[in-house]
Amino acid sequence: MAEKIVLTGDRPTGPMHLGHYIGSLINRVELQNKYQQYVAIADMQALTDNFEHPEKVHQNVFQVMLDYLAVGIDPSKSTIFIQSLIPQIAELTIIYVNLVTVNRLKRNPTVKTEISMRGFGEQVPAGFLIYPVHQASDITIVKGTLVPVGEDQLPILEQTNELIRSFNRIYKAEIFQEVEPVLSRVPRLPGVDGKAKMSKSLGNAIFLCDPSDEVAKKVMTMYTDPDHIHVNDPGKVEGNVVFTYLDAFDPDKKEVAQLKEQYQRGGLGDVKLKKRLIDVLNHFLTPIRERRALFAKDKSQVMRILLDGSEKTREVARQTMEQVRKVMYLDYE
Ligand code: TRP
Repeated sequence: MAEKIVLTGDRPTGPMHLGHYIGSLINRVELQNKYQQYVAIADMQALTDNFEHPEKVHQNVFQVMLDYLAVGIDPSKSTIFIQSLIPQIAELTIIYVNLVTVNRLKRNPTVKTEISMRGFGEQVPAGFLIYPVHQASDITIVKGTLVPVGEDQLPILEQTNELIRSFNRIYKAEIFQEVEPVLSRVPRLPGVDGKAKMSKSLGNAIFLCDPSDEVAKKVMTMYTDPDHIHVNDPGKVEGNVVFTYLDAFDPDKKEVAQLKEQYQRGGLGDVKLKKRLIDVLNHFLTPIRERRALFAKDKSQVMRILLDGSEKTREVARQTMEQVRKVMYLDYE
């Protein structure tokens, strides 16, 4: 069996938030110690629904890179690259789009949800519809087999595997192996408003780069138990966002268990609980913020790391495309 390779990535559409951290950054920081890991800053994918704002995507490449470095994705262990600097990804995408039907693309549940969230209606850009195919190219161009992602990405990985199976069958090739998702051990983080998902567009996110007073402000608005009105009222822990966040970030599990008991019994006020969460989050975020600020001061060095990673990835991609061209009778000479 070939050595497993990790490939993962993000669309650079804004700074990253705690939901990204819990959903996949946390896994990447671990996986880089065990496997060769590639991390794609998927600017081309971001353009599929931001093509009118290319400058925004450009700026966010740097922001996402700062978040990566700040949380501890280490460029001496992980290869971080810019998707648009690997032309072979686009090339492989054009090959893959023959292996999927338009109907199959339209049925992808993740894409469907995103189309309705973005209000595309009947005006879905073709590039948006095929982004799962494009993503399959991100993964397979470096022969990735392990993909740390949030659970909303599972249908995309399913489609990746369908493409890999079709490709291998039709071209009698063994170039690509099927991929497996690596899901987070920590349950998904809801937004501060209690909605199931934290997201920038829903306006319910705490960003890794939020200053401490901003974190405090957001925590104070957090959804708790709407029936817990007086301090002495018994309160609900399930669905109480403050406890969900304490479960994810408070290192003192015993203390959290005691607080839950007290809250359920009555006698623990929301404000006191929120103050604890503010401390816990700021304790977690302070070193991240500090590292981010340090890297932000040296933009040219950070961009150098990204360009080096892209060059390294391009070389691997070139080799993969050589194999692909061979099995597809595209190796003219
Ligand atoms: N679509 C992913 C998301 O929105 C981002 C992404 C781009 C990605 N390329 C990838 C994830 C490759 C995993 C592998 O989160």
